[in-house]
Amino acid sequence: MADVQTPQVSKGLEGIYIDESSICKVDGQAGKLYYRGYPIEAVCKNASYEEVAFLLLNGRLPNKAELDDITKTMAKERDLPDGVIQIIKEMNGKAHPMDTLRSAFSALSAYDKEVTDQSSEANMRKAIRIISKVSSIVAAIGRLQKGQPYIKPDTTLDHVTNFLYMLNGRKPTQLEYNIVKDMFILHAEHSSNASTFGTLVAASTMADMYAAVTAGIATLKGPLHGGADEAALKMMGQIGNPNNTEQYIEDALAGKQKIMGFGHRVYKTYDPRARIVRDYLLQIKDSSSPEVRTYTEIALRAEKLMIDKLGASKGIWPNIDFFAGPIYLAAGVPADLFTPIFAASRSVGWTAHVLEYWQNNRIFRPLEIYTGKVDLQYVPIDKRA
Ligand code: CMC
Repeated sequence: MADVQTPQVSKGLEGIYIDESSICKVDGQAGKLYYRGYPIEAVCKNASYEEVAFLLLNGRLPNKAELDDITKTMAKERDLPDGVIQIIKEMNGKAHPMDTLRSAFSALSAYDKEVTDQSSEANMRKAIRIISKVSSIVAAIGRLQKGQPYIKPDTTLDHVTNFLYMLNGRKPTQLEYNIVKDMFILHAEHSSNASTFGTLVAASTMADMYAAVTAGIATLKGPLHGGADEAALKMMGQIGNPNNTEQYIEDALAGKQKIMGFGHRVYKTYDPRARIVRDYLLQIKDSSSPEVRTYTEIALRAEKLMIDKLGASKGIWPNIDFFAGPIYLAAGVPADLFTPIFAASRSVGWTAHVLEYWQNNRIFRPLEIYTGKVDLQYVPIDKRA
């Protein structure tokens, strides 16, 4: 409990523990990430997104029957109500896909008969339903904003293949699949980050799971968090020519600007997720697309300069979102869908944390130090200056 005599402020809640959790460990000094104890590299190499969902939600790897079961359930839950597709159509072209996602996702609660059932069984069912449908919403947004008709989900496909099928109207190539599958897994969970905390704050009031995840989507949008991937690619676009990279970065740093895709509250070394994404960057650097080749060269030159200048001295290293843009482009995903896909993926982490937190719920209610005046005399409006 805070000492009321000498209250201390921790801006951004830095260094504050909000609870115990067994979902995910981020070791920011060693640059390691574990999902339920499993190193992220092993998870990415071996698991499907469905398996990661089971692992994070249930705390252990599934056996074959359990994996089949969650895979089938996620496939069965993919369809979107017509009303939700209408919302996407209405907002299409007027709002950023993250805003459309937030509204369309929030509307889903109207179609879930279990929305107010707070039993743990119903909450687990809702978690899986939510994880399944967020991806369908994101794919539908991407599809409709290309001016192409909505494609209904295909229940015979795995989660990631179906997502790319609903987005592009065709099955992905192996490289496209690998990139998007790994991004789905790498973004699935990351302990008490801003959007998970936002989700938990809403959940702690015993608002329903849709309300909580809507808060998570809203919190993810900003460029300091999930929006960094799109912002980093935008910066690469402003740099334009790889030969401008160093000067651009030097000028930005001299002007006290942050370079999107670098730095992290917890990692003070290379983000292990960024290493996996960077391996894909090396795979696509000779891509047939001149745009992807340019972005790749800019990204690698910017990385070198930033590490030389700020890596050891300030603990500012590339995070997952720096290299995401070029590899997503190589996989046929447009820039304004990067953060919505992050949300689709993170829906696993958000719901896993809600399920865990509700086992021993307490409302979040921190304090602030009041610095204003007290006991002012109320002045009638006609006497005010
Ligand atoms: N470029 C240049 N300088 C930076 C950067 C950056 N990307 N990040 C931090 N710094 C500097 C900052 O200017 C400050 O310097 P000084 O001490 O001289 O004032 C110092 O490092 C500490 O920065 P901070 O903003 O107080 O650090 P924080 O822990 O509050 O913020 C962060 C963490 C991720 C918001 C921040 O590093 C940042 O804004 N990075 C860019 C946005 C970004 O890439 N976000 C994605 C994070 S990873 C995915 C996710 O979880 O969302």
